[in-house]
Amino acid sequence: MTAMPDAPSAHDILKLNDLGGYTVPTRGLYPFQWNWDAAITALGWMAAGDEARAWREVERLLEGQWDNGMVPHIVFHGDAETYFPGPEVWGVQRSPSTSAISQPPVLASVMKILFEEGRDRTLAEQKLAATLPAVIDYHLWFYRERDPEGTGRVCSYHPWESGMDNSPQWDGPLAGVPAVDAEYVRRDTGLVDPSERPHKYEYDRYIYLVKFFQQNDHDAKVLYRDCPYRVEDISLISILHRGTRDLVTLCEEDAASLDLVNAHGEALFSLKQSLARTEEGVQALWSEELGCFLSRDARANVLLEHVTTAGILPLFAGLPNDAQAKQMGGLVADWLAQAPYGVASTHPESTRFEPKRYWRGPSWLHINWMLAIGCEDHGLTQEAAQIKQASKDCIAAAGYWEYFNSVTGEGCGGRDFSWTAAMDLYWLNPLDIFTANKAQDSAVEVS
Ligand code: DGY
Repeated sequence: MTAMPDAPSAHDILKLNDLGGYTVPTRGLYPFQWNWDAAITALGWMAAGDEARAWREVERLLEGQWDNGMVPHIVFHGDAETYFPGPEVWGVQRSPSTSAISQPPVLASVMKILFEEGRDRTLAEQKLAATLPAVIDYHLWFYRERDPEGTGRVCSYHPWESGMDNSPQWDGPLAGVPAVDAEYVRRDTGLVDPSERPHKYEYDRYIYLVKFFQQNDHDAKVLYRDCPYRVEDISLISILHRGTRDLVTLCEEDAASLDLVNAHGEALFSLKQSLARTEEGVQALWSEELGCFLSRDARANVLLEHVTTAGILPLFAGLPNDAQAKQMGGLVADWLAQAPYGVASTHPESTRFEPKRYWRGPSWLHINWMLAIGCEDHGLTQEAAQIKQASKDCIAAAGYWEYFNSVTGEGCGGRDFSWTAAMDLYWLNPLDIFTANKAQDSAVEVS
């Protein structure tokens, strides 16, 4: 529900960005299908009344899944000149071509919602049965290849894998990565104000890592041992944990009639062991002094002491104990007081806070949605309501941008952005038809 006159509606934006079963985040800047964007966007399709299209988004993302189970962060379904680094730079020989890293796996949590809230029960059961085995494999891949020592803390090998590309959290670990020694031309800074994007210094290292993966044939053992960037990423750990819990619930409770437990018993057993390991292992990332969780540079063995939204995402995963959750609740209130169009991705008191530069300070509505769920789950209802209101204020101030200046509400990055439109449709300002359906369903449950 944007305040901009003549601006496309949230549903129009999804249609505008629909390239045939998959939705680009925005035209030009991101012309392919991205992993966590696709998951969030599927919620928008469902809330717009098109459940079949929502499941199609999931299916098309899974077309990119590797034989080892990884679901990549980009699936290059078509050609496009407007993005760097494209498929030729990643050099992945498969069809469709993909990138060689993953992204926070919010997909399983979204599928649980599609299944639970979908009104077409035949469709939901059919689609879940068809896609769930692939998503179980995806989660097994994460634990197997990114936590081979069983610490309970999966690692990322690239800042892009966290989705929070230039977060101050990665400044330290990225400094240990050499710069690529080849010339390249960025496309993003020709499409978006460069002051809202990462610096060349960071890109030089992002591209070095892309080449490093290729030179090492994407070999899991070699990458774990030798990748110059290896970070226990608290946002990835949290989103994976929540997704795994949701997968287990889907199989054991929500979709019990599909008999998924029988078919996937061993995998579910292994996933539950991983859940237990993370519940214990994540405590090594808690900072009593800062009042939130932190990521850790696994190569240098140091905690990355930056207060960012990543560090409060454990709320979404149900990982903090009561005292930790309470401390994080206090932090959120203070955070929003200092940057009202929040939650600012980096705490405004940080010396590295930049309110409009990508992940160094702007607010992102899909993160806000996860944080609000996490707050609700921990009884922080007032904080959840504040986060929701701040998110509505962003859209009211500027429309459907990729992210928002957390101090002024100005829209930043790409315009007509799919996940912002999806969050409006599903979470912030659902269409009457969607809320009426939901109300009807809960009335049926009660009666
Ligand atoms: C980009 O290109 O900006 C992306 O964040 C990488 O996935």
